[in-house]
Amino acid sequence: MTYEEALQKLAPAGQEHLLRYYGELSEGEQESLLSQIEALDLSLLELIKEGVQEVKKGKIEPLGAVTLEEIEEKKDGYEKKGLQAIQACKVGAVLLAGGQGTRLGFDKPKGMLNVGVNRELYLFEQLIHNLLAVVKQADAWVPLFIMTSEKNNEDTTRFFQEKKYFGYNPDYVYFFVQDMAPSVGYDGRIYMESKAKLATSPNGNGGWFSSLAKAGLLDKIRELGVEWLNVFAVDNVLQKIADPVFVGATIEAGCVCGAKVVAKAEPEERVGVLCLEDGKPSIVEYYEMTDEIIHSRDEDGRLLYNYGVILNYLFGVETLTRIMNERMPVHVVEKKIPYLDENAELVKPEEPNGYKFEELVLDMIHMMDNCLSYEVERSREFAPIKNRTGVDSLESARELMAYNGIEF
Ligand code: UTP
Repeated sequence: MTYEEALQKLAPAGQEHLLRYYGELSEGEQESLLSQIEALDLSLLELIKEGVQEVKKGKIEPLGAVTLEEIEEKKDGYEKKGLQAIQACKVGAVLLAGGQGTRLGFDKPKGMLNVGVNRELYLFEQLIHNLLAVVKQADAWVPLFIMTSEKNNEDTTRFFQEKKYFGYNPDYVYFFVQDMAPSVGYDGRIYMESKAKLATSPNGNGGWFSSLAKAGLLDKIRELGVEWLNVFAVDNVLQKIADPVFVGATIEAGCVCGAKVVAKAEPEERVGVLCLEDGKPSIVEYYEMTDEIIHSRDEDGRLLYNYGVILNYLFGVETLTRIMNERMPVHVVEKKIPYLDENAELVKPEEPNGYKFEELVLDMIHMMDNCLSYEVERSREFAPIKNRTGVDSLESARELMAYNGIEF
C-alpha cells in the first residue's frame, strides 16, 4: 500500500491522524506503518458509532447437565473410550495464552506467573504437569497447540525452551500467534502506540481456530488424525486437560462439542451460564441475565440455569472446519490502553480510556448443533487466577491447590 492509498482508506473514517508522523519515520518504519494500515479492519469502528450495544440474544431456555453422580456411575466406560481416542491421537489440546491479563497486572505472559511459595511453580508448568498425567495414563502424547499473541509470543516460546518444555515432548508442541485488533478512544479515533505503530491488542480468544488455520496447523491436525480439540484457559491451575472421562462422555453422547461446567455457588454468581438459545447451545453472560434467569427454579428447588462454564471446551474438528469462515459476534470492551498523546509521549492510563474489540470462544458454542454440558467439581477443577487479591486470585487459587494436595 502506498501513502496515498493509506490516506484514501483512512480519510473517510476520520483516521488520518495515524499518518501524522509518517514524514519522520525511517523507510522501514514507513513500510511497517503502511502494512498495518492495510491490514486494518475499519468496519469494527461501526460497532461504536451509535454507542456500544451488546449482541442481542434469542429465546433462552434451560439446558441441564450430565451430573457428577451420573458421570461417576459411567466413569469407567467413558474413561476407556476417551483413552482409546487419545491413544489413536484423535485428541489435541489448545492452550489459550494470548491474553494480556490486565486485571492481574503482571507484566509478563500470565503463564509465567510463579504460583509457588516454597518452590518455583509456574502456571505453564502446572498445566503441563496436569496434561502429563493424562499422557502417562494413556501412554501417548497429546498434541498441544499454544496460542500466543504478537505481544507475548517471544517471551512465551523462549520460556518454554529455557524450561525444556517442563518435560513435555517438544515434537508435540505447536505455537501459533493470534490476530490483533485496533484499540480506539471513546471518540472513535484509533490510538497510536508509537509514531510507527497503531495501538492494537489481541482480538479475543474466539479467533483461535482461524488463527490456528492461518498458521498452517490444520495440515498438522489432519496429518496427525486429530478429531477433537480441548480448548482451555491459561489461568486455571486445576485445569484438567484432555480429560479422558470428559472426552469419552462427549463421544458417547454423540455431541459435536462438550463444555465443562460447575454448579453455581449462588444464583448471582458472575459466571456465564450454559443454556439453550433458540434451541441451540449458548452461553449467557452474567450481565446479560434477567432476574428470571438468575432465580428460576425447578419443582425440586434447583436453579434452572445452574451451570456456569469454566473455559474448558471440547470441539469436534469437523464442525470447527465447517464454521471457520462464519463471522462471530464482536464484543466491545472498555480497557486501559497505553497511547501517544498530542506531544508524542506514551501515556499509560490508570483508568479505562477506550475500547478493544474481541471475539470470544464462548460464542462458538452457539455455532454448534449440540453441546454436552458436563458437570465437574469446582473445588477439584476450577481455580482461575484473574485478580490480584480476593475472588479468583492467586490467593484463592493457592488455597485450592493446598486442598488438592499440590505442593507449591
Ligand atoms: P480472559 O478473558 O481472562 O482475559 O482470558 P485475559 O486477557 O487473560 O485477562 P484480562 O481480562 O485482561 O484481565 C481467558 C483466556 O483466554 C485467553 C487468556 O490468555 C486466557 O487463557 N485469551 C484472552 C487469549 O488467548 N487471547 C485473547 O485475546 C484474550
